[in-house]
Amino acid sequence: MSLSGKKILIAISGGIAAYKIHFLIRDFVKKGAKVQVIMTPDAEHFVTKLSISTLSKNPVYSDFYSHNGTWNSHVEMALWADVMVVAPCTAGTLSKMVHGLCDNLVIATYMSAKCPVFIAPAMDLDMYAHPSTTRNLELAESFGHHIIPAESGELASGLIGQGRMAEPETIAKSIEDFFDSETEKTLAGKTVLITAGPTYEAIDPVRFIGNHSSGKMGFSLAEQAAKRGAKVILISGPSAQKINNENVELHKVTSAKEMLSKVLEFYDTTDIGIASAAVADYAPKEIAKEKIKKNDENLTIELVKNPDILKTMGEKKTHQFLVGFALETQNEEENAKGKLEKKNLDMIVLNSLRDEGAGFKNDTNKIKIFTKTGKTEFDLKSKEEVAKDILDFVEEQLLK
Ligand code: PMT
Repeated sequence: MSLSGKKILIAISGGIAAYKIHFLIRDFVKKGAKVQVIMTPDAEHFVTKLSISTLSKNPVYSDFYSHNGTWNSHVEMALWADVMVVAPCTAGTLSKMVHGLCDNLVIATYMSAKCPVFIAPAMDLDMYAHPSTTRNLELAESFGHHIIPAESGELASGLIGQGRMAEPETIAKSIEDFFDSETEKTLAGKTVLITAGPTYEAIDPVRFIGNHSSGKMGFSLAEQAAKRGAKVILISGPSAQKINNENVELHKVTSAKEMLSKVLEFYDTTDIGIASAAVADYAPKEIAKEKIKKNDENLTIELVKNPDILKTMGEKKTHQFLVGFALETQNEEENAKGKLEKKNLDMIVLNSLRDEGAGFKNDTNKIKIFTKTGKTEFDLKSKEEVAKDILDFVEEQLLK
């Protein structure tokens, strides 16, 4: 999610597609964006300020003055925004935008904005196909605005064809892609290998030994490294996380042994290795061929040590920069420093289950980073922000 902390100004104009904006706002807010909504007077026929302000968590304005006499500064809102999204953008609003017909708050705000502007047109079939719309969209593009084309389908009039506003997911993706493209490609040319998620060690065909890792930390690291231009080899144990980035090659494995063999396949070409997986330290010595029946009161399963993937990476290290994680519940710092040394790492990221919001499953984490010479502490943050901190730290160390 690249929208965390981003300031998004949404302008709604009066079209039936305005109802879809609720989903877009909810998505932006969920992804950590700050959302300010303005609307044309006509938009109020289609959506209410109450529903929009509830979702955006901010007051919604459609006029220069509120009832209590306060001025809703179009200039302030325009300069506040990192991007402005006009959705739905009717034929009328589009025309006013490109010809400077400034007769409402939306147009005044648009004309004061210095940020990138995204336009999601929505109108009926023949209006969308009309040469004046085509010309106005071309004009908007010539101003450097981003057009999110209308889609084809059944329109409110009953006609079928192009004119439906792009779906909220499509609009959101355009905005996210835009912010991603702005990220500096500080890891271009580097291959980053990341282990993520839990491992499952089979007991019999239906049972396994596993742990609570969701894969969120590892997938966030993969996403952020890819955004910085790295080629990412993501080797994950069973996890429900998804990733959709052309720079990420995802390899799914189940057990620690499978994870190790996948890691070794790519290790020689790795520049930066990050082991965020929660690997099971032990696995059953034998895997029962059939489901174990519950005939006895007690069941003893003999466990044998799994390979230590990160330690193996440390032993085979030639040019790689190696980052380990330490998940601790006691003597945290001492244990983390021990692992840094024993596994021949360049740095280790400590997260403690004693810190609320840190470790498994949460969307947040709280970390300390240790190198051979120092320690840096970070606040509780989203895993996306934690991933950025870790990569910033790696980049700093590589420059030394
Ligand atoms: O997936 P999430 O729900 O987002 O949770 C994230 C996390 C808590 C799993 C993650 O932040 C984390 O701490 N990962 C490391 C968990 C762990 O197994 O820590 P450890 O202290 O037991 O292991 C030390 C290091 O050796 C780790 O980098 C681990 O990946 C690695 N290791 C451990 C054992 C083993 N057999 N092979 C390994 O490579």
